Amino acid sequence: MGCFVVFEGGDGSGKSTQARSLFRRLRNRGIKALRTHEPGGTPLGQALRRLLKSGEPMAPISELMLFEAARAQLVQHVIRPFLDQGGVVIADRFTSSTIAYQGYGRGLDRELIERLNREATGGLEPDLTVLLDLPVETALARKGGADGGKTEDTFDNAPVDFHRKIRRGYSALAASDPEGWLVLDGQRPPEELSREIWAKVQTVL
Ligand code: TYD
Repeated sequence: MGCFVVFEGGDGSGKSTQARSLFRRLRNRGIKALRTHEPGGTPLGQALRRLLKSGEPMAPISELMLFEAARAQLVQHVIRPFLDQGGVVIADRFTSSTIAYQGYGRGLDRELIERLNREATGGLEPDLTVLLDLPVETALARKGGADGGKTEDTFDNAPVDFHRKIRRGYSALAASDPEGWLVLDGQRPPEELSREIWAKVQTVL
């Protein structure tokens, strides 16, 4: 019935590199795999990504509902169908991003977020969530620097303290479900991380 692996972490944590690497390993072994990311993966998701980069000030509650709307589309039209065909779906961000960013970061009500997460996903949960954890300063330096860095993303330019809340949020989520999460030090060499992730995914598969 397929397998669903999610990569989580702050901005600049190296998720995309690891998601790509896992995708290649699966494909090289002839395993049916799909890589997707949030926000994105559908026309609605792409539109949300453009909106976030436009710099339009957004109320936290609007932000929450937009992410959830994009997620509902992605689950219904992309993730679910692929899992139903027995494939492995690798997602760069999923429901935990919303708890970390809109919950811990923006301070929105946790129960509300969890309710919307359930509604948007129809209760779909990852078989494994990989958290790439690293100090906020290191992650932001990788992305081009906090507060006035080169990127225009809403969250890349948020104060360092915002990113610290996100990191704490992820740590709390991982600690509450040690079976479902693999927490790795994102400062380790990418090749080493990739091997460890692959070993874990094989046990889940
Ligand atoms: P993106 O450029 O994709 O960043 P990254 O490569 O780190 O994923 O921008 C997406 C931003 O949206 C990122 O800062 C995290 C944020 N985000 C939320 O705030 N809530 C969510 O539910 C999701 C999926 C992402």
